[in-house]
Parts: sequence; C-alpha cells; structure tokens
Amino acid sequence: MRPRRFVAIASALAAVVGLAAASLAACSGAAETGRVAPPASQTTTTRASCTHRPDACTTRQAADAAGVTLGTAVAASHLDQADYRRTLLETFNSITPENELKWSSIHPTPDTWNFGPADQIVDFAQANDLQVKGHNLIWDQKVIGSTPDWVLRIDDPAELRRVIRDHITTVMHRYRGKVDRWDVVNEPLDTVGSGLYDNHFRHVLGDDYVAEMFRIAHEADPEAHLFLNEAAVEYQPAKAGALIALVKRLVDEGTPIDGVGVQGHLISGSVEPGVLRTLFDELRSLGVAVAITELDIPTSSDARPLDAQATVYGQVLAECLDASCREVTTWGFTDRYTWIDDFLGPGRAPLPFDRSYRPKSALNAIRDELLLHQNGN
Ligand code: XIL
Repeated sequence: MRPRRFVAIASALAAVVGLAAASLAACSGAAETGRVAPPASQTTTTRASCTHRPDACTTRQAADAAGVTLGTAVAASHLDQADYRRTLLETFNSITPENELKWSSIHPTPDTWNFGPADQIVDFAQANDLQVKGHNLIWDQKVIGSTPDWVLRIDDPAELRRVIRDHITTVMHRYRGKVDRWDVVNEPLDTVGSGLYDNHFRHVLGDDYVAEMFRIAHEADPEAHLFLNEAAVEYQPAKAGALIALVKRLVDEGTPIDGVGVQGHLISGSVEPGVLRTLFDELRSLGVAVAITELDIPTSSDARPLDAQATVYGQVLAECLDASCREVTTWGFTDRYTWIDDFLGPGRAPLPFDRSYRPKSALNAIRDELLLHQNGN
C-alpha cells in the first residue's frame, strides 16, 4: 500500500498527465518479466582507451569521457551492500543523498543535528572520487513533510530568517569543498498549477524569499554552485513558463543562481518529444546551467515495457545533452529501491537496473547517448 501522504500528490499529477488514478497501478509487475540487457563491461580502462574503444568502457567512464555528470540518488542505509556499491561505482560519477540532507532529516529539532547519515555518504564519495550534489536546503512540501514542524511554527519573520541562516550556514560549512552544488530551493512552484507554492517560507517572508535563500547560501559558501530545482514541468506548459519567468526575474535581479534542475519524474512513462529540449534551451538562454536531477521513468502498459522505457531514457538524455545540459541524475538506480513503489504503487520498475542489479535496456540507451556525446559532440 502506498503511504497515505503520497496519494494526494500522485492523484493530482495523474490528472495532469491524463491518467486515470487506477491506471497508475495497472501495469504492476509488467517489467519484471521483461528481458534485461547484456551486462555492461566491467573492465577498468583509462579515459583515453575508453574514448577509442567505447565497448570497453564502464558507464561511468563513458560519462567522464563525455564530460557529463551522471549521477544517482543514494541512501546511506544501502551503502553497506556490496552489489549496491559495485553497481553505483561502475555507473555513476556523482551522487545525491536521497533524504539525508533534507531539513527534517538533518536538523529535526532546534538543537538536534543528525549529520551521521549525510557524513557517511559524503565520506563514501570522497573515498571513491564522486561528486556530491546537496539536496536540499529549503523545501516545504506540505504533504511530504520535508520541513520539520518546529520550523513551520515560526511565524515571526526575523526569527525565521535567523533560523534559516543558521541552518543553511551550518550545513553548507560542514560540507564545504565536498559538496560542489546545492539545490537551494526545491519546488518553489505549485505542484499542479503555475503560481508560487504557498509554503511556509513564502507565507512568512514574502515572494522574494526565493532570492533571499540564494543570497544566504551564496554568503555561506561562495564557491558552491547554486540550483533551483523544480518538479512536474514536463507535462504542464504553464508551469514551465512560470519556471522560466521566475528564473529570468532572479537572474535580472542579480540573484546568485547558477543553475536550474528539472526533476524528471516522468510518471506517465513518456514525455512529448521536444518539450525538454525547448525548456532547456530557454533556460540556457538566461545564462544558467541546466540539469536533469531526479530522473525516473516508470514502465507503462506497453507490449514491450523495457524497450519502451529505454527509448524514453535515450530521448531524455539526447534532449538534455543536445541542449548543453551537463548533468543527468537518476533518482536511485535499482528497481529494488525506488520511491516510485510508494508514490505510484509497486512494480513500475522505473530505473536502469533491475531488482537484482542487472542492467536493463535503459542503461544501454543512457550509455549510447553518452558515447554519442563524447568529446562534447
Ligand atoms: C523523495 C524520496 O525519494 C523518498 O524516499 C521520501 O520519502 C520523499 O522524498 N522530489 C524531490 C525528492 O525533490 O526529494 C523526493 O524524494 C521526490 C520528489
């Protein structure tokens, strides 16, 4: 059963993409019977030989050779599993803590800091030469409970500003030089719609809170690359327009914003060709970097679900890389551990490795696009 807290968001999004709520779970298990791709090479070639002999590359080497940050969300609690670590290290050159840096995880009460799980991930990254994306500093999504109650109870703007500054500064200082980029504000826009999400920060601080958060983060770590991260723009042209307008306003006002992440939870299993390319081109024209930050593509009721899924993975990679986006991060990598099981129901198999860590056709599609884009082509 899906956790109750996810059902409201999933249903609202299902309406947007034109899916009946029931059909969200209709193809449970479809992917489990599909074929898996042959294993990617496990050899340890250098970057140079990888460029000349693409078949010998690990996916991570293919990403390095293409100059692409290929990331995945990870959970500290899985890092003790050998299969999990091996697959992760052969495939990705960047990781994002899935939950460990969120305010409610790392700073659950005013005087409690729970750094352990995030430290574990950052130490693992350091030991294995992985980049780390920090996710996230500010996110008040009411249904998910991403901001702890003690913060939501602060109604005095001066006090809230003091608490935010302390939180952002403490977290960014702890990981300075180890986390090179941060989602400063996650999901500032309405999940469904095109207005600013009426979250607690906006409610107390006013509409300019988004810019203010970026200024605080920039003061805390002037070297860090600062991102705004947004969801569900792939199916909502009005929301994509609102995102572009918001970023333009921030840039015009001189806000220290470096990039925009598009989450890429493709809950319908597809996205209209050209939508992402156009969005990324428009954002790039504002002078910011662009990235896909939380990609997962649930299988649908297609006759060949894994092939259909692979096609969409390839399409997304191609549109992103063609628009000079230099990061694609998947929200997990094995169907064994995916939030989609809670969000949409089990069995939708949205990730590039199956539950036994065997690469799926989706991984080949990702590799093919990376190899095509080697040397910045
Ligand atoms: C999700 C995690 O994957 C789950 O484990 C957690 O229970 C809820 O949050 N958009 C985001 C991510 O920005 O932080 C969310 O991650 C998924 C949606």
